[in-house]
Amino acid sequence: MPSVRVSLANHTYDVTIERGLLARAGSALRALTPSKKIGIVTDDTVAPHFLAPLKSSLEAAGFAPLSAVVPAGESHKTLATIERILDPFLHARWERSSPIIALGGGVIGDMTGYAAASILRGVPFVQMPTTLLSMVDASVGGKTGVNHAAGKNLIGAFHQPIAVLADVETLKTLPRRDFVSGLAECIKHDVIRDADGFAALEKNIDRALALDLDFLAEFVAHNVSIKARVVEADPFERGERAHLNFGHTFGHGIERAADYRLPHGECVALGMVAAARAATTLGMLNPTERDRIVALIARAGLPIAGLSLSTDEILKAMASDKKVADAKLRFVLPDRIGHVVIRNDVPDSVVREAIESLR
Ligand SMILES: NC(=O)c1ccc[n+]([C@@H]2O[C@H](COP(=O)([O-])OP(=O)(O)OC[C@H]3O[C@@H](n4cnc5c(N)ncnc54)[C@H](O)[C@@H]3O)[C@@H](O)[C@H]2O)c1
Ligand SMILES: [Zn+2]
Repeated sequence: MPSVRVSLANHTYDVTIERGLLARAGSALRALTPSKKIGIVTDDTVAPHFLAPLKSSLEAAGFAPLSAVVPAGESHKTLATIERILDPFLHARWERSSPIIALGGGVIGDMTGYAAASILRGVPFVQMPTTLLSMVDASVGGKTGVNHAAGKNLIGAFHQPIAVLADVETLKTLPRRDFVSGLAECIKHDVIRDADGFAALEKNIDRALALDLDFLAEFVAHNVSIKARVVEADPFERGERAHLNFGHTFGHGIERAADYRLPHGECVALGMVAAARAATTLGMLNPTERDRIVALIARAGLPIAGLSLSTDEILKAMASDKKVADAKLRFVLPDRIGHVVIRNDVPDSVVREAIESLR
């Protein structure tokens, strides 16, 4: 069974990726805590599929689970929902040592982590990601939080999970568009860190798209290990963790300009295409590798063109991204597949041309 260790200065945890892990979650967690109380936070789309089996598994291992079910969707990733999550646990006189499980996608993971960081100033939390994006990205790294009217993810805390349990079987019920959207972050991982992984995905992308679960277990583990290595090197995002923003400077601009109506992964896909093209224009990336990046994005079923938003609106949205430290836009650009550099000197004309190429 694939498992990836995440080792941070004062905290180490394992990400276990396995078919059927949901049914074995109770015994896996029993090995980590003597607590009788255990919390589950999930949303009303995920709950009908997986809440009952998770509860039975926990009960069989001697836990007394208490659950909070909140409405699904990014629009509910707010402080108001955090209050709804906190309520049942505080009324049940939650204890410092009793863990809370996030069962769901990145929205549930981010909110549960933030709630767990707040209850009694911090209780243990466990990620049980049920989307591809949350398995390979959101559940690893300890970033938690909610959105604010002034912008996405502006409120939050770093709070690392004590364990991540990813059951790839859960991906069977995930809507196709969400699954494909998650593939964007996977392609990103190989472009920034792993040329061999990229070549392997070129060979095996059809197995991923066919939802071959044995392949997906290995594939998720591969992606988690890339994210884990980046997070280990820079847990608080002061340096190289920014490499994970490949495709995201353009991507966030598109996402904002589209008023968040397009899935994140689709915006990142377009962003990676723009970044690869800008890198080639700047003479950093050879055209053959650029074309391989664009081709793999397309084969994954992600968009590489068709953008109808105005270039000026996207540029404006890019400039207002919170990750811009000063007036200069920072781009993560590949100089070859498997390696990126951060550039804050990309000429406006190159940025513009890269966006225009997405029409
Ligand atoms: N903390 C981090 O480092 C990090 C990294 C990347 C993204 N994120 C956050 O993650 C969020 C996006 O996560 P997401 O794409 O998983 O979205 P999501 O959590 O909204 O899930 C997408 C939809 O799929 C449903 N769903 C989840 N699992 C399912 C399953 N197995 N079967 C059927 N339906 C299922 C959900 O109810 C939801 O409607 C964003 O809020 C983003 O900010 C966080
Ligand atoms: Zn992303």
